[in-house]
Amino acid sequence: MALLEVDQLITEFATDEGLVRAVDGVSFDVEAGATLGIVGESGCGKSVTALSMMRLLPQPMGRIAGGSITFQGTDLTRLDIPAMENVRGRRIGMVFQEPMTALNPVHTIGRQLTEGMLLHKVCEPANALRAAADMLDRVGIPSPDLRLGEYPHQLSGGMRQRVVIAMALACEPDLLIADEPTTALDVTIQAQILELIADLQRRMGMAVIMITHDLGVIAETCEQVVVMYAGKVAEQGSVFDIFDRPAHPYTRGLLASIPRLETPAKSRLGVIEGMVPGLRDLPIGCRFENRCEHAIDRCREQVPAPELVAAGHTVSCLRWQAL
Ligand SMILES: Nc1ncnc2c1ncn2[C@@H]1O[C@H](COP(=O)(O)OP(=O)(O)OP(=O)(O)O)[C@@H](O)[C@H]1O
Ligand SMILES: [Mg+2]
Repeated sequence: MALLEVDQLITEFATDEGLVRAVDGVSFDVEAGATLGIVGESGCGKSVTALSMMRLLPQPMGRIAGGSITFQGTDLTRLDIPAMENVRGRRIGMVFQEPMTALNPVHTIGRQLTEGMLLHKVCEPANALRAAADMLDRVGIPSPDLRLGEYPHQLSGGMRQRVVIAMALACEPDLLIADEPTTALDVTIQAQILELIADLQRRMGMAVIMITHDLGVIAETCEQVVVMYAGKVAEQGSVFDIFDRPAHPYTRGLLASIPRLETPAKSRLGVIEGMVPGLRDLPIGCRFENRCEHAIDRCREQVPAPELVAAGHTVSCLRWQAL
């Protein structure tokens, strides 16, 4: 059995204009110690998928309306709050996009780092500060003992994100969910943070779900990839499948939009024309149909089911074989 098995996950939000389905039948597995990337444009449901796994959907609007999230043999969608709190932080750590949202501005770094460790009893109170300093050291923060007494605003953006990673890793979780962990950071710091996550992953043997809109990040860090579009999985497979033989027109469009150094600055971004459909006016058939140059009448009428391209590689496109 895989470490994590997400099966036909459906997540809905109650809004003033009725129910919207932000995640609609998403399935993927993550093996112990492996790295899975979830990629897609803004609004495609990446964060909602992550928040569903953590059971941190905004309340009372958000709810898991179907499917299962089996982690270490337990369906997280069925856990009560105390049981879920035991999983969160202890077995699954999460790094959010904006480091300041995860940090409390009025508490010291030391207090925030030790809180989770004490809650989950992974160390004795007398040793907590020592363990926190060790963790800061592991994420490459200089003079960790001094940092423990400082507040978030005293740190640079890159250092803050390192603290957030240290917090997520403090209890040595089996799975780290990193939701755009480097988007708010400049490029050199980005590379350092990704390297840091990869290094800690190797040393601690944890699995990682790397959420990003950047296929470059996926290429550097992941083994398996889920490409999401408008709340559904468009394509999934190994990094090799996705980069070397993408089958979905959306994946191909994303690949074409990766900036390449050798192309002149002006023509660097070949963006996909058009916009992701709103959740309130989703097309009846394929959700990518209005942006797809290969769409035919059937694409407007029929929802494409996942089809096997090769072992471990699936695509949800009626026309993939004809492309
Ligand atoms: N609290 C909410 N109420 C209603 N709709 C929501 C809520 N939170 C998210 N959504 C909707 O769910 C959809 C998916 O959002 P999500 O934040 O998962 O996108 P994302 O893929 O993480 O995008 P980004 O790359 O910008 O982070 C969006 O259409 C969004 O409007
Ligand atoms: Mg997001």
